[in-house]
Amino acid sequence: MKALEGIKVLDFTHVQSGPTCTQLLAWFGADVIKVERPGVGDATRKQLVDVPGADSLYFTMLNHNKRSIELNSKNETGKEILTRLIQECDVLVENFAPGALDRMGFSWENIQKINPRIIMASIKGFGPGKYQDCKVYENVAQCAGGSASTTGFRDGPPLVTGAQIGDSGTGLHLCLGIVTALFQREKTGRGQKVSAAMQDSVLNLARVKLRDQQRLAAGPLTEYSQFGEGVPFGEATPRAGNDSGGGQPGRILKCKGWEQDPNAYTYFIIQAAIWEKVCDVIGEPEWKTKEGYAKPPERLDKLNEIFERIEQWTMTKTKFEVMDICNPHDIPVGPILSMKEISEDEGLYATGTLVRVDHPERGEYISVGCPIKLSDSDVVVERSPLLGEHTEEILSQVLGYAGEDLDRVIGSGAVGDIKRQAAE
Ligand SMILES: CC(C)(COP(=O)(O)OP(=O)(O)OC[C@H]1O[C@@H](n2cnc3c(N)ncnc32)[C@H](O)[C@@H]1OP(=O)(O)O)[C@@H](O)C(=O)NCCC(=O)NCCS
Repeated sequence: MKALEGIKVLDFTHVQSGPTCTQLLAWFGADVIKVERPGVGDATRKQLVDVPGADSLYFTMLNHNKRSIELNSKNETGKEILTRLIQECDVLVENFAPGALDRMGFSWENIQKINPRIIMASIKGFGPGKYQDCKVYENVAQCAGGSASTTGFRDGPPLVTGAQIGDSGTGLHLCLGIVTALFQREKTGRGQKVSAAMQDSVLNLARVKLRDQQRLAAGPLTEYSQFGEGVPFGEATPRAGNDSGGGQPGRILKCKGWEQDPNAYTYFIIQAAIWEKVCDVIGEPEWKTKEGYAKPPERLDKLNEIFERIEQWTMTKTKFEVMDICNPHDIPVGPILSMKEISEDEGLYATGTLVRVDHPERGEYISVGCPIKLSDSDVVVERSPLLGEHTEEILSQVLGYAGEDLDRVIGSGAVGDIKRQAAE
């Protein structure tokens, strides 16, 4: 049995944030029914296309284990079908622009009337307030959530990060809200509305930077490199380059081969507890007792000198040799892995974190599998659905349309071209 077996999800999501959430629900065992505009579908199907005529990797990597129904929710018969889906489902997830669902005639009040047990989960760019009506994409959220202003180097512009903390990060937050609401429904019998704003989710992930904002009132942030460099702090949490986010100093350092390989680097942390081992490894044993070096606070104004010396050592080793030498001493280091190296790591395939998936249009591709492992709810990653692949199946098996009634619905223009599919 899967953890969410028996839970039906009406997946009204598109692009990345919402689909991340519903893909997780599908992996946990829910029956996820993705509603897509007839003949068009989720816009990502045709974005960043690498194989002409096939669904893009953007789409296939975010919509595993789902079923697809083509449905025009603005058509009268389409609204009838949507109403029946709302009656049947436990959860409705959407990430339309603000007001889009209301304009279709499906406000939260109406949805609750149709099914008081349903959980309606929404992603918007901003929570209630002056920006509530804005359309928002990933990088806007990274900027509005405080991540961009605190990422990058002090002498450079704000930076967005490659990790999709605005989209996928918000999808994760929403998913937690949904399962929490399902748990509460077990006791109350009532559904509820679950909302996650992308700005809020990014801010939640940038929590430590708000911590530092408040610490500024008590003086300079001593673990930031700029403290050791004598650069005064301003009014807001500054960009900290590659400084460690925690209380112990850390940097990204060059390794052997850095001249040719843009990823021949390691992260290196000099925690107080392993300082003496670091000194031995890099060949500076006298730093263990030398005044100005022996105690952590004394070292803070010498971090540039210390890391330059460590880098002289790391440059004589590959990033993997650094890992092999430092790990037995509990010195926290981490190789900077390229996506190429990650995609070739058989260890990640063994755990299901990476998966190879077959697809009828594009053949085999690599995807990220379920990153959350449940010991009693195994995940088998299945390919994403083709547009409208399950329209007839959902109409008949989930909603019970049959005979003339089914013909009426199919003939109404609300559900795409089913005859063409049957012929294929
Ligand atoms: C992502 C986003 C910016 C995309 O904007 P968009 O491409 O213009 O898409 P919208 O959500 O506005 O939807 C466009 C229209 O399609 C309609 N539509 C969607 N699915 C439909 C269907 N199955 N049948 C009929 N109409 C449909 C919507 O009702 C809407 O119509 P309206 O503008 O008349 O109300 C926007 O959806 C958004 O801000 N979402 C919330 C934040 C978010 O999740 N952002 C991150 C995305 S990764």
